[in-house]
Amino acid sequence: KRQKKIRNFSIIAHIDHGKSTLADRILESTGALTNREMQAQVLDNMDLERERGITIKLKAVCLSYRADDGEEYYLNLIDTPGHVDFTYEVSRSMAACEGALLVVDAAQGIEAQTLANVYLALDNNLEVLPVINKIDLPSAEPDRVKQEIEDVIGLDASEAVHASAKAGIGIKEILEQIVHKVPAPNGDPDGPLKALIFDSHYDAYKGVIVNVRVVDGSIKAGKKIRFMATGAEFEVIEVGVFKPRMTIVDELAVGDVGFVVAGIKNVKDTRVGDTITEAKRPAPEPLPGYRRINPMVYCGLYPIETQDYNDLREALEKLELNDASLRYEAESSTALGFGFRCGFLGLLHMEIIQERIEREFNIPLITTAPSVIYKVTLTNGEQLNIDNPSNYPESGKLDFVEEPYVKADIIVPNDYVGAIMELCQGKRGEFVNMEYLDSNRVTLTYELPLSEIVYDFFDQLKSSTKGYASFDYELSGYRKSNLVKMDIMLNGEQVDALSVIVHRDRAYNRGRVICEKLKELIPRQMFEVPVQASIGTKVIARETVKAMRKNVLAKCYGGDISRKRKLLEKQKEGKKRMKQVGNVEVPQEAFMAVLKID
Ligand code: GTP
Repeated sequence: KRQKKIRNFSIIAHIDHGKSTLADRILESTGALTNREMQAQVLDNMDLERERGITIKLKAVCLSYRADDGEEYYLNLIDTPGHVDFTYEVSRSMAACEGALLVVDAAQGIEAQTLANVYLALDNNLEVLPVINKIDLPSAEPDRVKQEIEDVIGLDASEAVHASAKAGIGIKEILEQIVHKVPAPNGDPDGPLKALIFDSHYDAYKGVIVNVRVVDGSIKAGKKIRFMATGAEFEVIEVGVFKPRMTIVDELAVGDVGFVVAGIKNVKDTRVGDTITEAKRPAPEPLPGYRRINPMVYCGLYPIETQDYNDLREALEKLELNDASLRYEAESSTALGFGFRCGFLGLLHMEIIQERIEREFNIPLITTAPSVIYKVTLTNGEQLNIDNPSNYPESGKLDFVEEPYVKADIIVPNDYVGAIMELCQGKRGEFVNMEYLDSNRVTLTYELPLSEIVYDFFDQLKSSTKGYASFDYELSGYRKSNLVKMDIMLNGEQVDALSVIVHRDRAYNRGRVICEKLKELIPRQMFEVPVQASIGTKVIARETVKAMRKNVLAKCYGGDISRKRKLLEKQKEGKKRMKQVGNVEVPQEAFMAVLKID
């Protein structure tokens, strides 16, 4: 029976350990793609992803493979992202699988996300198959890495495949292990339909296309289905699988992974993690949903052009559809007008959404500095969650403030322990533990304020360890902290979008640096612009942007016309990124500068 021949698996790995390359090889060797169709890294088909070289949105591909036992198997490969911001997507795709390939770089060994992902897989009861990749590298140490997998994770690595995704070594062995070690799906083919939605996207012609894994029963065109969380009902128009092209099939049965089209126009009716059932014969209860993921970082997104506001709302609606972790709500700012407060999993997530809005939807944006959620208790006992510094209550009404802390595990070679400790201490970190992974690598554990790591912690970590450190974090709770709101005034006017919440001990220093930064970033205007930082009514720092002396064109008086045009173009380009705040023109960078402080 077909069900016995299905194998659903994903590939988990630390970033750059070769997951996408291995996926390509698997696609190639099962003939899912002809050579002509074969492009590098098919599974990462978003432009942005390709540029950044990281997998963001998971994808599913249905492959057929004739194994050495002569039988034909249906392998569904579900791709997962590797960056710490996207752990939740990994858990989504794992709920749709029975097995996972654990790819570990033979030269690098276990890294922070290797561990994070493997624990997710084990929590989901997946069969984990270790694959030691990049054995072609001269620096590869497959035996050491095998030992590490056994010692650190506690997995049996004796049969781990030695592979090179790049050179195409070990691919056949991996496929055989998937067939023989990953269990077939064990749902009830005759039970009421239960299908897990693990992703969805919007198509201009077909409406919302949902990606599902059928757990019980089956689904085909003409059937009436119900989304259990929202109660919305639709008639199925077509079902199919990704090969990787969308290919229509008669039916998706138990264990199948594919897509459903049902003329769904409203993106809000489908929710990733929800269960689809049959309207006539509904399942008594839905599948356990995904862990609900709460955003960790918030920022304001404002269209530069006021008339783009509605387009921005639509863009966010569409992006939210296949990104359950994205949150947004309308807000307004005195300085920036109407926009949205958006919640993200982390900084990378924030940058990606911002770039997608600008590129795919063509809406130029102003982004305000990211903020975490502060828990504020007022003197009258009332508690508030503050995700926007401009809503921070005045100090007279404040009893105390708590800020989110994370427990961060950092894996690094011995030589860099000092550098990491210095970095963490500088970020108000508290040392928790240090443990040897093997003779030359350690895991350092620190408790750190989330606000200190959201901005550039990762970059600093990388640069102070020549890229050798890897890190993973999880929220560990809230702690009382001595925080104050610092306001920024331009030309005497407070700019709400520039306010930040800072630790009192660092306020003076930050205030000074922010003013210096803004002085550099704000172009000269026709008049002198004072830049001030204040806490309450007390000014703690000040700089001045001097008035403009000449106009840009004066410089090329007598110069050739094309140069003149170029300058004007450039000026126009620069203008696009400017926002008029009061009577001062402020560039986009200024809104981020308040956090970028070294
Ligand atoms: P993300 O998508 O960013 O999570 O990374 P990934 O794990 O998918 O890594 P990817 O497949 O993009 O590979 C990262 C780099 O390692 C690329 O430059 C690959 O060419 C290289 N690479 C992958 N597999 C091998 C291998 O077996 N040997 C060698 N030498 N290089 C490899």
